[in-house]
Amino acid sequence: MTPTTGAAADTTALLGLLRDYLSPTPPQLSLPPGAFASTELYELEREKIFRQGWILVAHTDQLASPGQYLALDIAGEQVLVTRGRDDLLHAVSPVCRHRLMPLVEPGEGHTQDLTCPYHLWRYDLDGRLIAATHMRGNTAFDPSSCRLPGFAVEEWHGFVFVNLAADPEPLAPHLSVVEEEMTNYRLDDMVQVYSWTEDWHCNWKVAVENTHENYHAIGFHPETVRPLMTGGIDMDVHVDTPLVTRLLTPAGQPMETLVLPLTPDERKVLYSFRVFPCASVATFGETIAWLSFIPVSADRTVVRGGAVMPRQLVEQAGAENIRPPLAEFTQRVNEEDRRGLEAVQRAVGSRYAARGHLSPKEPGVLAFYRSLTHALTD
Ligand code: FES
Ligand SMILES: [Fe+2]
Repeated sequence: MTPTTGAAADTTALLGLLRDYLSPTPPQLSLPPGAFASTELYELEREKIFRQGWILVAHTDQLASPGQYLALDIAGEQVLVTRGRDDLLHAVSPVCRHRLMPLVEPGEGHTQDLTCPYHLWRYDLDGRLIAATHMRGNTAFDPSSCRLPGFAVEEWHGFVFVNLAADPEPLAPHLSVVEEEMTNYRLDDMVQVYSWTEDWHCNWKVAVENTHENYHAIGFHPETVRPLMTGGIDMDVHVDTPLVTRLLTPAGQPMETLVLPLTPDERKVLYSFRVFPCASVATFGETIAWLSFIPVSADRTVVRGGAVMPRQLVEQAGAENIRPPLAEFTQRVNEEDRRGLEAVQRAVGSRYAARGHLSPKEPGVLAFYRSLTHALTD
């Protein structure tokens, strides 16, 4: 066997340190700083995590009617999600089968079909080729067998997930406990009031580990999120499967609800869950915020998110009245996290960067590290 050298040796050493998190007595330490900077580790994450995991990309309201689409980059792979004429969601590779032209610009929009801007080949919203100009003379070309490669797409109570693996296991069974516990939130009857896409200059794990603890609310969010945590910043962590972690924050005062039939016990908890690798769904009474941290490189992460509320509440109060204060609040919280986490990212290359001791208030962070290790080493 040839000895491993350089970057490969560094990655091997990093994985060795990560494996310690799977021990019955894991180190109460943060990730090695190199894990946030290594482009070799990022390549491994692309292959073992982002080409295999369920990635939350949108709320179904963003893809409500036939022709609506969302084009995005998931760790270097271009993905297009559409609502087809059949009213179903489709996810395809939007790279033209002729000579590689992307069929749409990244972003959200509405279209009748997918016409390549280069030589005008046309595809249906489900990826089937409809027409190719000036191709009859090429007898080797069979238009009926030409289509855009598809990806798995799954909607779970309004949340749209995509998976780039060839034949992935369905996501829903992993969420069975959450589904049962969130029955009274009536997710299927929620509408999205506001959504956002931001570009953060940090490694995706810097952003995701931050969502696994309330500890930072005292530093980053003293006037925004912290006051919502009337019962303190502790959380109960429950790991259901390697993919799903529930993070339950006790509320000091039972939350008031106007339309949701939450039980007295349910009113005493800020309920939230994470889907590995990068999805977060958190309730704040009758408002639910979702976030997804999708890497585009080792040090850049696109943050997609939205806020949903019960349809009845939105109709009663009027979306135009609810949206401005909700948008202002979420933008402020996102800005607090973005500024802080970009500063952390700037520090990971310091000669003095080292692993730090975790607080007992950060068990969710360790749960994330274990999911990460499973995904990278199994
Ligand atoms: S590259 Fe799309 S039609 Fe030529
Ligand atoms: Fe935060």
